[in-house]
Amino acid sequence: MKIAVPAESAAEETRVAVSPETVKAYVKNGHAVSVQAGAGAKSFISDDEYKAAGASITKAVAATVKDADVVLTVRRPADAVVKAMKSGTVVAGQLDPYGDRKQIDALAKAGIVAFAMELMPRITRAQSMDVLSSQANLAGYKAVIDASAMFPRAFPMMMTAAGTVPPAKVFVMGAGVAGLQAIATARRLGAIVSATDVRAAAGEQVASLGAKFVFVEGMADAATEGGYAKELSEEDKKRQAELVAEHIKTQDIVITTALIPGRPAPVLVTRQMVETMKPGSVIVDLAVERGGNCPLSKPGEVVEHKGVSIMGHLNVPGRLPGNASTLYAKNLQNFLDVIAGEDGAVKIDWEDEIIVGCGLTRDGEVVHPVLKGD
Ligand code: NAI
Repeated sequence: MKIAVPAESAAEETRVAVSPETVKAYVKNGHAVSVQAGAGAKSFISDDEYKAAGASITKAVAATVKDADVVLTVRRPADAVVKAMKSGTVVAGQLDPYGDRKQIDALAKAGIVAFAMELMPRITRAQSMDVLSSQANLAGYKAVIDASAMFPRAFPMMMTAAGTVPPAKVFVMGAGVAGLQAIATARRLGAIVSATDVRAAAGEQVASLGAKFVFVEGMADAATEGGYAKELSEEDKKRQAELVAEHIKTQDIVITTALIPGRPAPVLVTRQMVETMKPGSVIVDLAVERGGNCPLSKPGEVVEHKGVSIMGHLNVPGRLPGNASTLYAKNLQNFLDVIAGEDGAVKIDWEDEIIVGCGLTRDGEVVHPVLKGD
């Protein structure tokens, strides 16, 4: 198959959908890869590295994608990319399936066979293709590093002749992939860490990383079959807010990661709660792109509210572009194995759980069950 990788068009996107390693693997398996010039620049991957791995470098986006069987992207392809692709081209990327519907309809209309990698089912076979996990893990790490750089005090306890420096207290809200990595990172830096989640199963994982689990006594487990969280009842929301309000007062750093698939992020840290925190405290809102877990956070900004810094960096995995691109590219490579037939041509089994799980458009239609009736 002919695989094409256009440069990402969003200015803030630093990642790229292929790495020199995956290009090498594609070429070894008999595929041809064309990469738009400069596509890897923000991930510090040069055109020469791609060339050395076996890719051809093309200047214009149209030249890159026009003959492609498969186009790999980090985000939704720009209109110019969609226009340049032939009908029947497969696109695999983070296509923001719950975002602006018009662009998804446009993909369908253009005859694109689109796969949204965010919808990858959480089954063992698909773990190596799970872009949410690979990226969230990096975001969890970076959130703690960002917080520690902003925090005007030290993380670890230090016992010195001049006195003792107390350890920082870090509270992680949402103990999924990002949250667990945030806990591990904060622990490595010597902080005292606590965490909360609405899935009871998270408790054991939190404890195994040496953190305290903060959970509303007797609250119904809000885990879905797919391993994600669902929205809490109004009663449970209230009880959770009361518990969090008490706990947050004593914390130096709060990292929020809570998400509910297809819904705005739940509000967990209110203005009143922020105002109970000590000046110099730091909040990192990893959910800011989905509305935020703290109403004071602003997308792409670090704001200060009564001495508390609230960090709302966008595309946090993209702040570690070297790692993020390498892992993302590998996720896509594993996915392409699923859609490649024995002769190397595209062969899609529309009965396969993975294909059904992340297939968005096909034969001019939006086919994903979640979006079909919209
Ligand atoms: P996510 O990114 O959708 O959400 C982050 C966390 O926020 C979740 O743990 C969720 O339970 C929590 N949350 C949601 N609402 C909340 C609220 N109101 N208060 C506090 N916390 C709230 O979830 P993520 O990180 O993608 O993973 C969720 C689970 O799926 C994890 O247990 C993870 O280990 C599992 N998983 C399984 C995989 C597989 O089997 N292939 C692959 C990746 C993750």
